[in-house]
Amino acid sequence: MTLQPTLMNASAARYSDGALRLEQTNLSAIAETVGTPAYVYSESMLSEQYRVLDESLKTLPHQIHYAVKANSTLAILKLFAELGAGFDIVSGGELSRVLAAGGAPDRVVFSGVGKSTEEIDFALKTGIECFNVESASELARISQRAQLLHKRAPVALRINPNVDAMTHPYISTGLKENKFGVAQEDAVILYQQAHADPHLRVKGIACHIGSQISDPEPLFDALDQLLLLVDELNKQGIVLSDIDLGGGFGVVYQDESDFDVDAWGSSVVQRLAGRDLHLSVEPGRFLTANAGILLTRVEYLKPAESGKNFAVVDAAMNDLLRPSLYQAWHGVLPVSENSEARAKRWDIVGPICESGDWLAKDRQLALREGDLIAILSAGAYGSTLSSNYNTRPRAAEVMVSGEKYRVVRRRESLQDILSTESF
Ligand code: LLP
Repeated sequence: MTLQPTLMNASAARYSDGALRLEQTNLSAIAETVGTPAYVYSESMLSEQYRVLDESLKTLPHQIHYAVKANSTLAILKLFAELGAGFDIVSGGELSRVLAAGGAPDRVVFSGVGKSTEEIDFALKTGIECFNVESASELARISQRAQLLHKRAPVALRINPNVDAMTHPYISTGLKENKFGVAQEDAVILYQQAHADPHLRVKGIACHIGSQISDPEPLFDALDQLLLLVDELNKQGIVLSDIDLGGGFGVVYQDESDFDVDAWGSSVVQRLAGRDLHLSVEPGRFLTANAGILLTRVEYLKPAESGKNFAVVDAAMNDLLRPSLYQAWHGVLPVSENSEARAKRWDIVGPICESGDWLAKDRQLALREGDLIAILSAGAYGSTLSSNYNTRPRAAEVMVSGEKYRVVRRRESLQDILSTESF
């Protein structure tokens, strides 16, 4: 097997005795009992990623708010809640999931540009930690709703620091042309309004500049901008207690440079030294991406004398949208190393009727029909971006812990899909 060592180190999947495993569990055993396609997660890697990040900030008062959108499966939320995580949510639906998983409401921050009145009311009644407010109109609406419900809404302004996160344009959020956050020039006036508003409690300042960021420099630039604003507000008697740096810490899918959490952590600690600010971060991908794989079976091989060789598998773009949507690269490994087939270059495609339905292109693999393969680094923005396109039930999800595994989300049935409809 010729693989970049970084790729093998990054993913939780490992070969042992010719079989691909997550922790000590053979993936083919899971396919036998649970079927395919299935998302499979390593509990110990999820915990370890959390621990590493937490450790890097240990000398500062801080709170990790896991970005629920990366993977909102209840078992994963419960695990992070038990490890002490708070949560970054972007909808009432995500708030319901956090509560169902036993997450503490007062460790929830609510981000997003389009919070509805219903969602704001739900969050106010639940008693969340903070609204990360993204516009003047939203601030006014939160104040109105708080007044009506006799509450005082905790707020932070999400600042758009206008820095380039140097990542894929779809997942870059900190530039002026993006829809996110409040422009720095407008921030002071909004803070003054919020400060004077008896229905609001101004807590902090927030930003999130993008996702899959490998080079920490843009993150530091954003932090420095935020600190300038904190100082400016201080002079005006508006004292903030919280600073939220968002998420975005990159992971290795292929040959990206590893995000150096410790170096990033010590730089953040240095910049915040001597300030009375409680730090928050909102990682999603960093905690879950490489802890998960998508397990799928080869249905048909379509070798070609000239042109492309296609391996049609039972997972598709409805299960894992990232390749189609972002041309994202995910590693692919055979579950059994002992295939007798001759290696060829394959495009791994799904059964959906679109040419955009592919999971990986041009991969040198020895494949036979019926073989199992693992699509790596699928723990973040995999199951949460899945859909029922082509009326395909959503995949089962499995949590591995050592030699044991359990289904944490059963495979959706056709009955589940049809049950919401009527004539
Ligand atoms: N906080 C906010 C306000 C966010 O919008 C996001 C992600 C995060 C935190 C977490 O970012 P992370 O640490 O996971 O990079 N579907 C895309 C990624 C979209 C990210 C959206 N916002 C993908 O599959 O690459």
